[in-house]
Amino acid sequence: MLLFFIVLLIISIVLFRKVNENYFILALCQRIKCVDGKPLEEKVCVIPGKTIFGNNFDVLNLTPGKLFELTRGWAKFSRGRSYVLHFLKAPVYNIINAEDAEQLFQSQTLTTKGIMYDLIRSFLGNGLLMSQETALGVKLTDIAGDIEYRAAIHNVEAILVERACNPLMYYEIIFYLFGQYRKCKHYVEIAHNFSGKIINKKRKEFIENGNNSCNVDKENSYGKTRYAMLDTLLYQEAQGLVDHQGICEEVDTFMFEGYDTTSTCLKFALLNLAQYPDIQEKCYQEIENLTAFENLTVFEFNKLEYLGCVIKETLRMYPSVPFIGRQCTEETVLNGLILPANAQINIHIIDIMRDSKHFPEPSVFKPERFFAENTRNMHPFAFVPFSAGSRNCIGQKFAMLEIKAALVAILRTYRVLPVTQTKDLILEYVVYRISSTNPYILA
Ligand code: HEM
Repeated sequence: MLLFFIVLLIISIVLFRKVNENYFILALCQRIKCVDGKPLEEKVCVIPGKTIFGNNFDVLNLTPGKLFELTRGWAKFSRGRSYVLHFLKAPVYNIINAEDAEQLFQSQTLTTKGIMYDLIRSFLGNGLLMSQETALGVKLTDIAGDIEYRAAIHNVEAILVERACNPLMYYEIIFYLFGQYRKCKHYVEIAHNFSGKIINKKRKEFIENGNNSCNVDKENSYGKTRYAMLDTLLYQEAQGLVDHQGICEEVDTFMFEGYDTTSTCLKFALLNLAQYPDIQEKCYQEIENLTAFENLTVFEFNKLEYLGCVIKETLRMYPSVPFIGRQCTEETVLNGLILPANAQINIHIIDIMRDSKHFPEPSVFKPERFFAENTRNMHPFAFVPFSAGSRNCIGQKFAMLEIKAALVAILRTYRVLPVTQTKDLILEYVVYRISSTNPYILA
């Protein structure tokens, strides 16, 4: 009998060691390995969990603000090296510098969005994961319910952030039973109803126009005819290339990706201008040098180079999208690591753009960094507020133009004075927000 137990024990130990090679058993998670067989710790920093169960309990029930702080702590701990976390769903490779981001941004295969996007699938469906008025060719205020719509988007985001703070909630069944599933469904319905109204209004105009575009922009387009995105989709619908559901998903995605991102950048730009009056004065002088103010064209906006640098420096320090995610659909080799299928990759845009190797004194607001002569030798992936590679932001030029147009309108009429200092802000995970409602005043 004793012999039987000894044999059983030995077999169990051998089996355990074998399984342990590929799995972090207590974290219920597959391991990332090095291509050259060396220990993982030699290539990346492995963040020890707070418990023996990997990092599973590290983020449990944190507030969005505390979760953001935790990521700052991890970045400090890893001292500039990219790092690995172990969660029950999958290992997470966190990329925090431009050098490690290069291969990923150049990859043609690592294009599947990360787990966070699964959490908003009920809202965006399979939309391009893509704002708004000019882009869609519709003024939101022309459609009843626009205020509720904007509030619904904010509420969906707030639920997403809360869900991100509790990995157990990543499981649909747990979210359904114990999470804010019903609230989320309610807000998603408000958003879907509103986007449905936009599409129906445009479809009516489109049909009245004989299935021809109703929103053609021939100005500002260097001779090219441009169509609003929704017109293009309606045209495709008339050709049988997309159905109503498909259009809804694209519109919701466009609204979601373009609305809060642009407004967040605008808020941070105003906050910075309020804190640095000399920089605000330079922007004002540049705007005053414009010869015409009515119906400014893209050409005139392009002359506002200093203002462009202010927006870029704002995006560098306070990226509207501080983290993006990818997941491996199959076993993948990246930066000398073998990532198992389903492994998550977190790209820390905020850390990449605050790397002192590329941006000396990274916490100091210096728009001059983006003068042409200072960017010539910049690492191609050091400044990535709009991501990079095949899944970069398709609205980036539009966003820059939109932010410039808003700043020109404000700075021509008002001087912006500070109320809140950036150092006093509470920053939250996933969507970078200013928690104070009135961080600056217009005088
Ligand atoms: C300051 C403003 C903006 C910032 C910082 C920003 C940033 C980003 C980032 C980082 C991504 C990549 C997400 C990822 O890879 O997971 C992205 C994707 C995207 N953005 Fe923007 N964005 C902005 C404005 C806009 C606007 C105004 C639009 C539309 C008019 C837009 C449409 C999109 C779309 C459709 C995607 C998805 C592309 C894809 O998945 O292939 N964005 N944006």
